[in-house]
Amino acid sequence: MCRSGMGTLLKAASGMLLERSRLVMFFMTWNFILLCLMLFFGASNHVPWHANKLWHEPDAFPRCSMDACFNFSRCDDGDNLLIYIYNDPVPKGLHVPMYLESLPGSEWHTTDPEQACLFFYFSDTEANKAAWTKPAFSRLPYWNGGRNHVIVTFADRWRDTNPAPESLGMASLLSTKLHHTTYRSAFDIAIPLPRSNPFIIEELYHLSPFERKYFLTFKGKRYLSREGVFRGSESFRGMNNGKDVVVVETCEGKTNTKLLKSHPELGSGCKEGQAVYDSYDYMELMNSTFALAPAGRSPASYRMFEVMSNGAIPVLIADNYVKPFETLIQWQYCLLQFPTNEVHRVLPTLRALPRKEVEDRQRYCKQVYEEFLMDDTALVRSVIRSLKERFMGMMPNFPLDKDFMKGHN
Ligand SMILES: *[C@@H]1O[C@H](CO)[C@@H](O)[C@H](O)[C@H]1NC(C)=O
Ligand SMILES: *[C@@H]1O[C@H](CO)[C@@H](O)[C@H](O)[C@H]1NC(C)=O
Repeated sequence: MCRSGMGTLLKAASGMLLERSRLVMFFMTWNFILLCLMLFFGASNHVPWHANKLWHEPDAFPRCSMDACFNFSRCDDGDNLLIYIYNDPVPKGLHVPMYLESLPGSEWHTTDPEQACLFFYFSDTEANKAAWTKPAFSRLPYWNGGRNHVIVTFADRWRDTNPAPESLGMASLLSTKLHHTTYRSAFDIAIPLPRSNPFIIEELYHLSPFERKYFLTFKGKRYLSREGVFRGSESFRGMNNGKDVVVVETCEGKTNTKLLKSHPELGSGCKEGQAVYDSYDYMELMNSTFALAPAGRSPASYRMFEVMSNGAIPVLIADNYVKPFETLIQWQYCLLQFPTNEVHRVLPTLRALPRKEVEDRQRYCKQVYEEFLMDDTALVRSVIRSLKERFMGMMPNFPLDKDFMKGHN
């Protein structure tokens, strides 16, 4: 009785176990199929987080580095790094960095492609677009797969782009618009948007940080759509205290005005903001210890060098931005940089900086400005130095920089 009872119990228990494992199996199978379905459909319309983000385009450039994509023996002859320029003279209407226009005729220029170590091709968005549809670069007479070629692009409008990755071959980029996610360090070179405002107050440049009228300033445009909208956020505009921190913006501008007609709700605070904006003089706001250089449509800004040319310390707000001449300048000793979604950290961070550090930062910023950025001559020299840097001193006939070496003896 007891035995049979035990037997039934055991049977029932094992039956339950069996049922349970069947059930588990069933769910596992269904879950598995469901998972497969989800993966399948998910993958087919999977949108990567960086899609449609201007500052993350393109996804990638071809894998390249000096050892794989460069012919060193082209640079064996000659005392200098010699550059052949395809578009010489630069055609009217081509968007190029002005400071590079002095390159033809300089000691680094050759009109003989046989002698050239590097081949420059100035390109702009229009030319790049054409390169999408027809492989423009590969038709260049000395292309050779793009070896030793440098595509120069100057992008100061939001629609400006670099060439399509497919068109680059083994060429490197010298560009104002390089992103960390695509940048090939020690191969591509980031160059600056130069100072566009010709005004500079000599007296101001020599004023030390805490002798300045303001602590932090910004006077500029507010963007109501796309990249740069963070400038309209409360954490950005709210920095303004009307005393030692002045952050003022205008909503004027073609794109904004057009947008406001269909979406007036986007313009909240614009009217009030305009009155405050008008009450401050741009140059007077340069009399500041720190000055914001926030990304606009593009992470690079003209303001960064305007700020430096007036002796203020730039505070960048930008994402994925390769700063100019990164191999020559130790930017972390000069400026501060915040991601666009960390704007709320700007003021607390700046306020907490020890006085001595602020003074050191200004000193280094000024040193950088004078040595690398100050005028066209300095800018061209920095480009050449960056190009030479890529050889890491291995070319006996062109040391990094004779003047630089002298200064450090
Ligand atoms: C590299 O350059 C040298 C000298 O101009 C040339 O003879 C050689 O064919 C080049 N090699 C490649 C792979 O292009
Ligand atoms: C800058 O501000 C300081 C402090 O308010 C003032 O003494 C100085 O004259 C100003 N300099 C210029 C060039 O505006």
